[in-house]
Amino acid sequence: MYLEQVSPDGRVITIDTEDKRVPRSKTHPLAAKVDFLLGSSTASDVVANVKRRAKGKRVLIILDSLHTKGHVADELANYADLVPVGGYIIIQDTPVGAIDAIHEFVAANDAFEIDKSRERLLYTFNVDGFLKRVK
Ligand SMILES: C[S@@+](CC[C@H](N)C(=O)[O-])C[C@H]1O[C@@H](n2cnc3c(N)ncnc32)[C@H](O)[C@@H]1O
Repeated sequence: MYLEQVSPDGRVITIDTEDKRVPRSKTHPLAAKVDFLLGSSTASDVVANVKRRAKGKRVLIILDSLHTKGHVADELANYADLVPVGGYIIIQDTPVGAIDAIHEFVAANDAFEIDKSRERLLYTFNVDGFLKRVK
């Protein structure tokens, strides 16, 4: 609904190793805006598919798949360059593993900074999980 308001032509690309969609989600009025890709988010064919779909588009990335350090590090390595300057990668559930991948990523990559101003609530599962592209 929010996407419809801020970017009427925007699309969601979602990736999962399992098809957990409930039948009614396929007939939801907004289903036409969602592309579901089956496979690992770090598989080379999936990454290539996402990059083809995202070409020339403004991209926001939300990482919420396998929360291990290694997997999140691979996702950051594969997808970070899709984000425009001023844009964000949002990483979910960081305390269960991803936070170390985030710290290593920003230490090695000065194009991204952790934006603590986005952690507005008293409690969050996205600790250090808002990465802003600054150059
Ligand atoms: C925390 S759930 C989040 C699901 C979804 N993002 C949501 O908000 O409903 C994590 C999901 O990641 C999927 N998953 C696990 N390993 C994955 C991988 N390598 N690539 C993509 N998805 C994966 C799981 O099947 C599971 O559905």
